[in-house]
Amino acid sequence: MVNPELIDKLNDILRWEWTGVAQYSQYSFVLTGIWREVFSGRFAESASESFGHAKKIGEKISALGGVPAVERDPVKQTGSLQAMLENSLCFEQTAVQLYQEALELADGVDRPLVVLLEEILLEEQEGVDEFTLILRDHESGEMADAITNVG
Ligand SMILES: [Fe+2]
Repeated sequence: MVNPELIDKLNDILRWEWTGVAQYSQYSFVLTGIWREVFSGRFAESASESFGHAKKIGEKISALGGVPAVERDPVKQTGSLQAMLENSLCFEQTAVQLYQEALELADGVDRPLVVLLEEILLEEQEGVDEFTLILRDHESGEMADAITNVG
């Protein structure tokens, strides 16, 4: 019998991934101005990534005998690119946290599930790292100073 707590945690993840599908898609739809050229496609890719994760987690929940959630959590709507990027970083950080919590429950119980969760966790952390770098002010950042001081 699969731990009901583990199924519940996987459904928490699934709801979060559905949230990502909706939130990132909306950002890609509504973003206007010159930065649309850069970020609309980027947000659309993130929506696709969330759907890919939702598919893997939903299939796993079903395989384990659970019922995959169809609900999602609230979307943070905004027309500001800065807020979109900050919300995206926040979204990815929460995803990392949720996958880590699921891993704690799966550890020592279901090795293939651990591998699946770890693979997705790595992609969520890559999202955190990417949005962190995008949000870091290039001109006033420590890295800019360090690069300027080289040579
Ligand atoms: Fe995800």
